[in-house]
Amino acid sequence: MTARRVVIAHTAVDSAADPSTLDVLDQVTLVAEGLGELGIPSEVAAVQGGRIWEIADRLAGAIVVNLLEAPPGFPYLHTAATAALELLDVPFTGNSSFAMWLTTDKVVTRTTLAEAGLSVAPGGRLDLDHPTVLDRIASPWILKPGWEDASIGLDGDPVCHTREAALARGRDFRSRFPGQPIVVEHLLPGREFNIAVIEIDGAPVVLPPAEMTYVDWPAGKPQVLGYEAKWIEGTVDFDTTRRRFLVDADEGSLPAELRRLASGAWSACGLSGYARVDMRLDIEGRPCILEVNSNPCLSDGSGFMVAAQVAGMTPGTAVEAILNSATLRWENAHR
Ligand SMILES: Nc1ncnc2c1ncn2[C@@H]1O[C@H](COP(=O)(O)OP(=O)(O)O)[C@@H](O)[C@H]1O
Ligand SMILES: [Mg+2]
Repeated sequence: MTARRVVIAHTAVDSAADPSTLDVLDQVTLVAEGLGELGIPSEVAAVQGGRIWEIADRLAGAIVVNLLEAPPGFPYLHTAATAALELLDVPFTGNSSFAMWLTTDKVVTRTTLAEAGLSVAPGGRLDLDHPTVLDRIASPWILKPGWEDASIGLDGDPVCHTREAALARGRDFRSRFPGQPIVVEHLLPGREFNIAVIEIDGAPVVLPPAEMTYVDWPAGKPQVLGYEAKWIEGTVDFDTTRRRFLVDADEGSLPAELRRLASGAWSACGLSGYARVDMRLDIEGRPCILEVNSNPCLSDGSGFMVAAQVAGMTPGTAVEAILNSATLRWENAHR
């Protein structure tokens, strides 16, 4: 690709923010490293509150690496900065505002995937006034705030065995995450996978499937990659969860099935650039999609970047593919 000026735009974060918010700075570092490898000049813009239009004059003639996340406390504004980039008519990396909106809402994502014939964990929206979903879905249940990511809300004991416990956790979510839908799902007992997908030359390429393993996990504790497991170094949950990559020859039809679901999710959700799809096996060993990440973490050591590395990519070649897909989408829109 021709070297063009690149602006790495990220939502400004407070140094006292929690690790899941601060992690965007590690993504900036990784992308800057990739651009350095490519010899492409770049500048970093910390955008206050995601208000990208305030720096519109810096974006003219540039490609934007879109690391704009929801301002803390406003998960439903996640897509607003991306929509603003669309209105400003600048090429930007990753997913469209529409795909981000769709995949940020876990209820809408579930419906979209199921509609496309892709398996999702049995579940639905928990209406605390009419909790009929609990009659349809077998326990044990896991509850998730519908618009969060990074295992926010998956703290304490995230698994509910009784109706009373599920309703109590739902009420707790209603006050902690006001306005958000609450997702309740059957707790899938099987192996867990993260499948990264990157767009290369206009087509999605599924990267090597990664498994999240629970090594030396405390006996009897439900295997859930909760907030501590992802973010709090030194906790048992963090220290006993490890990523490994599948050896396809040992796994029968599983890798192909994981890849089929990941590509299906890419098409069904209208994804572009890069994404990661989280899945788990049900009791019969069938993979089900848990969620689609349209803005997955790109930091060094993140699931996406490690999968890219296992596929032989470097930060530079991964960033190059992501920039090329941004240019391609912009050019297609301006034909
Ligand atoms: N239905 C489910 N069955 C079993 N585990 C689940 C289920 N839903 C979520 N989990 C666990 O919780 C983690 C986080 O859930 P996920 O849907 O990926 O949300 P996010 O990563 O956006 O917080 C998963 O990685 C998995 O360990
Ligand atoms: Mg996840």
